[in-house]
Amino acid sequence: MWRRNSKPMRSFSSLQRCKTIALSSLSVILAITFVIIYRTRVKSRSQIDSLKLKWSGSKSAVELQLLPSMVFMNGTDLMWQLPESPKAVLFIAHGCNGRASNFWDRSSSCPNCVGLPEERLLVLHALAQKFAVLAVSSVGKCWTFGKEKETVKWIIEWWIDKNKLGKLPVVALGASSGGNFVSALAAVMRFSSITLMIAEGVFDSIDIPTNYPPTLFIHMPKDQRRMKLIEMNMQTLRMKGVHVKEVRCMQFPLTPNFLSDRIPRLDQSFSVQLFELLHQRGFIDDQGYMRRDGRATRWKQILKENKFSSEKYQWVNHIQEELNLAYGYHEMTSLQLYDIFSWFEAHLSSSKAS
Ligand SMILES: *[C@@H]1O[C@H](CO)[C@@H](O)[C@H](O)[C@H]1NC(C)=O
Repeated sequence: MWRRNSKPMRSFSSLQRCKTIALSSLSVILAITFVIIYRTRVKSRSQIDSLKLKWSGSKSAVELQLLPSMVFMNGTDLMWQLPESPKAVLFIAHGCNGRASNFWDRSSSCPNCVGLPEERLLVLHALAQKFAVLAVSSVGKCWTFGKEKETVKWIIEWWIDKNKLGKLPVVALGASSGGNFVSALAAVMRFSSITLMIAEGVFDSIDIPTNYPPTLFIHMPKDQRRMKLIEMNMQTLRMKGVHVKEVRCMQFPLTPNFLSDRIPRLDQSFSVQLFELLHQRGFIDDQGYMRRDGRATRWKQILKENKFSSEKYQWVNHIQEELNLAYGYHEMTSLQLYDIFSWFEAHLSSSKAS
């Protein structure tokens, strides 16, 4: 079509000149567009690279392997891993629907482990920083604040004793329901500091002792209701003389390689394909931002509609977590590892005396 139409045009010199002008202005416009697109791409890519670097930049973390020990006792699962010469103990409490086995990679020694991307990075980083890591599963879907609190306190103390870690400071991190659980646990047992992730804590239903541990809030301001509760609770804690700090986590855009960068063994072509399909379906905008929370996005339909092999379904929860994280409303995050461990490290020495 184009060739046929363009031929007669060549015979008219005025038309020819018009065409030249049109073509050159078109190429100028194209060049400008290209520069703009290239700049935006470079910008978003470098951001993801730096996110990725946050963990792979630490050589010791990459060389480590996630190999947990585990036992079932007091009606629940305990999983743990000890680094060589640990300097502190980290207790981790998952969110609703979570389990201790989400924190370790699937391996021959733990075939039922899930290795969710954010959870595994947290444990890898903790081990690299010489923290002995203990995760316990809640008995029900979420944590409860009666007998379960006493049981978990008993378990942590038993486990510390069994592993001869009694001289070390103990820190705790909980996400969502687990964050609320840790906030309550910290009133009945001694932690040197705690991190409450996407959780406001249950400070209106506990007596806050005078030696309540320094508390770091890692939260996502897009969840405005929770942010307001956190501001209030930080004020309450400050008035009791408790050291508090907050770190805000923002949404960020997806990139074609994002999923394969964050999820070990998820191949890059699948990541790129899914990214393009998410874009085509309008689940992400032109900048790559999720339009809605991952849980509210019917992205799993894409797998069905495009007849992805059943092998890809093993990544559903991993992908879900990363989409939620990018949306930045309510999800476990390892992107703030630096802040979390700086907080723990800064308060290690103050607790050994107890
Ligand atoms: C946990 O189980 C042990 C036995 O395995 C028992 O001695 C202990 O009292 C139990 N702790 C609690 C808090 O139930």
